Amino acid sequence: MDLFPLVDPIPLPAPVWLFKVLQSVTLALHFTAVHLMVGGLFLATWWAIRGRRRNDERMVAASGAIARRLPIVVAYVINLGIPPLLFAQVLYGRALYTSSILIGVFWIMVIFMLVAAYFLMYKMAKRADTGWAFGWMGVIALLLVLKIGFVYTNNMTLMLRPEAWAEMYRSNPTGAHLAHGDPTILPRWLYMMLGSVGMAGIGLMLLGLRSGIEKSAAAFLRGRGARLLTIFTLVQMVLAVWVYRAQPEAVRAGIWASLFYKGIFGAWFLSALALVALGAFGAVTAASRAWLPVALAGTVGFVNIALWVLFRDGIRDVTLGLHGYDVWARNVYTNWSIVVLFLVLFVAAVGLTGWMGLVTVRAKGADEQHA
Ligand code: HEM
Repeated sequence: MDLFPLVDPIPLPAPVWLFKVLQSVTLALHFTAVHLMVGGLFLATWWAIRGRRRNDERMVAASGAIARRLPIVVAYVINLGIPPLLFAQVLYGRALYTSSILIGVFWIMVIFMLVAAYFLMYKMAKRADTGWAFGWMGVIALLLVLKIGFVYTNNMTLMLRPEAWAEMYRSNPTGAHLAHGDPTILPRWLYMMLGSVGMAGIGLMLLGLRSGIEKSAAAFLRGRGARLLTIFTLVQMVLAVWVYRAQPEAVRAGIWASLFYKGIFGAWFLSALALVALGAFGAVTAASRAWLPVALAGTVGFVNIALWVLFRDGIRDVTLGLHGYDVWARNVYTNWSIVVLFLVLFVAAVGLTGWMGLVTVRAKGADEQHA
C-alpha cells in the first residue's frame, strides 16, 4: 500500500537537482540566522541577568550589544526560512503537508509564538538602549523560540514516518499531536538549539571587532565568543553522533552505503574540528583585534552548517526511499526561460540581502537601529 497521498499531476517546472541546490543553499542561510538568533538570545538574556546580579558592567554592556541586534537577526530568520519552505514543499509536499496537518495546532501556533518573541526582542533592544532590565523578557522570548524550534524538528521528523500517520490521525484527527515518540527528535532539536550557542560565538567574535563598542566589552565579546565556539562545537559533535545513532538501522546502513553522504559526514567532522581549533586560538588571542581568524571562523562556520544541511537531507532521502518515496522520480517539464528569469531574480535578491547585511554591519550608533 502506498503510504503517501497521490502525487500532483502537474510536472515540476525545473529539474529536481536545481530545486535541491536552491533548497540546500537557502536552508543553510536560514540555519545560520536561526543559530545567531537562538544563541544570541540565550547569551543576551543570561548575561543581562548575571551581569546585574554581579554588578558586572562589562557583561551588561555585552548583553545590550547583542540584544540591540536581535530584531534584525529575526528578520533574517523569517525571510531566509520562506524559500527553503517553498522548495521543501515542491520536493516533499506529499510527506510535509501530511505531517503539517497532523501537528496542525502547533504548526499554526508557530506564527503567534513568533510574533510574540519578535515583539519581546524589539522591547529588549529598546530597554538595552535606555539601560532598563530585560532579562525576564529574554527568558520568555527564549522559551517561545525554543518551542518553535521543537515544532519544526517535530514536523521535519514526522514527515519521515509515514508508517505512523494513519494511526496518529485515527487516534486524534484534530491536529493536536506533538512529540510522537520518535527517538530522533530530541538529538535533532538539541543539535540545533545547543549548537546555536557555539555559532553565536562566531557572531560575538565579529561583534567584538566593531569600533563602536566599549573596549573592555569588545574584548570580553571576542574572548567569550571564541570559548563558546570551542565548547559548544564539541557538544554539537557529540549530538551529531547521537542524531546518527538514533536513526533506524536501515537508515544508518543506507547512509553508510552512500559514498556521497559518508564524504559529507567526514567533511562536516573536519569542519567541526577546525571550528574547535579556531575557537581555542581566538580565546588565547582575545586581546588582538585581528580580523582574519574571525573571518576564517565565520567561513568555516557557514561551511559546517551547509554540510549539516546536506547530511540531514541524506537522512531524509534515505528514510523516505525506504518507504518507496523517490524524490528524483518526478515528472519534470522544464520551462527554461522561466528558470533563467527566476535565477536572475534569485541572485539579485541574494545580493540585495547581502548588501542590507553589510549596511547593518557598517552602521554606527543610532543609525544601526534603523538599518
Ligand atoms: C523562531 C523562529 C524559528 C526557529 C527557532 C526555527 C528553527 C528551525 C529548526 C530547529 C529547524 C530544523 C528542524 C530539524 O530538522 O530538526 C528548522 C527548519 C526549517 N525552518 Fe525554521 N525556524 C524558525 C522560523 C522559521 C520560519 C519563519 C520559516 C519559514 C517561513 C522557517 C522555515 C524552515 C524550514 C523550511 C525548515 C526545514 C526545511 C527542510 O528540512 O528542508 N523557519 N527551523
